[in-house]
Amino acid sequence: MTTWIRESEQSWIHKFCQAVLKTGPIPKHVAFIMDGNRRFASKRSIDRAQGHLMGFDKLAETLEWCNNIGISEVTVYAFSIENFKRSKEEVDGLMELARLKFTKLMEEKELLNKHGVCIRVLGNLSLLPHDIQQIVADAMNMTKNNNRAVLNVCFAYTAREEICSAMRDIAEGVDLGLIRESDISESVMEKCLYTRKSPHPDILVRTSGEVRLSDFLLWQTTYSCLSFVRVLWPEFSIWHLYAGILQYQRNYQVIQNAIQDNKVKREMSQRQSDVECCRVELLKTEEESITQHQVNEYSMQREKRIKTFLGHVEQKREQLLSKFEERVT
Ligand code: FPP
Ligand code: MG
Repeated sequence: MTTWIRESEQSWIHKFCQAVLKTGPIPKHVAFIMDGNRRFASKRSIDRAQGHLMGFDKLAETLEWCNNIGISEVTVYAFSIENFKRSKEEVDGLMELARLKFTKLMEEKELLNKHGVCIRVLGNLSLLPHDIQQIVADAMNMTKNNNRAVLNVCFAYTAREEICSAMRDIAEGVDLGLIRESDISESVMEKCLYTRKSPHPDILVRTSGEVRLSDFLLWQTTYSCLSFVRVLWPEFSIWHLYAGILQYQRNYQVIQNAIQDNKVKREMSQRQSDVECCRVELLKTEEESITQHQVNEYSMQREKRIKTFLGHVEQKREQLLSKFEERVT
């Protein structure tokens, strides 16, 4: 019995609905707040750990639905930093579940490679027990060269912690003289987030009827289509996923226009900032004009500084992972 990757036969009705949905735009990246496992457990009179286990099974099922319809990236909120405040018994239970499932995942190497799945665990991993840090590092190292599908598991994650961590990297970059304060922009910030390798989610689904984001992907969901579903996570069905995709398709053009507008505004404000900085650097006043060539030269230098800085950030992350590398075969 496999745990993460399933290869079930699809029914004709699912294939038919998929074909219909595929006539419209299919989201590339869907994020899930898998909420309601404990309420599901008490509704079914089973224990909490069993509720979380069924939550995991639902995740595996959902990954298969996403893969079948062509969604190539999925991000899930598996454990929030806030969840450490739950009872010791529950936190230990969730850690044990992670231990078990990531160990199983290592045994599914062939299937993961066959489907080209890259696993990334995002969050402040130093908050996790050392053996779990090792297992998740192994899973990431083992799948890092796969590129047909991506699964981001947010574990010991909150968006605000992610943003603080990115700010610390940026402050260090300024301190070391790799970038200047004026080089800091939304796009630099984005490249320092845990999610820097991923496009922003097209859809964010939250189950259980709660209509909050609970500190999940706050930066990345500005233009995501939000889908709040009333069922508890273990009750989530393929029809809820299809409904989310349909809602995304109905709003597609409006969302794309907003993304495009933002892109244009960003480029304009970057150009304006380059003009100002270039003027200051050349000690020119408003009256004394600077040439296009001088501004272009300044932009190139800025981009060069940013590239060096991001290389430094990447190196720091790789070093963290390579500490664990020896174990991977
Ligand atoms: C939220 O439901 C769910 C969690 C805090 C845990 C989610 C974890 C899984 C689905 C398993 C994933 C495991 C791995 C290894 C990827 P809740 O506990 O807040 O339930 P409630 O809202 O009913 O109280
Ligand atoms: Mg909850």
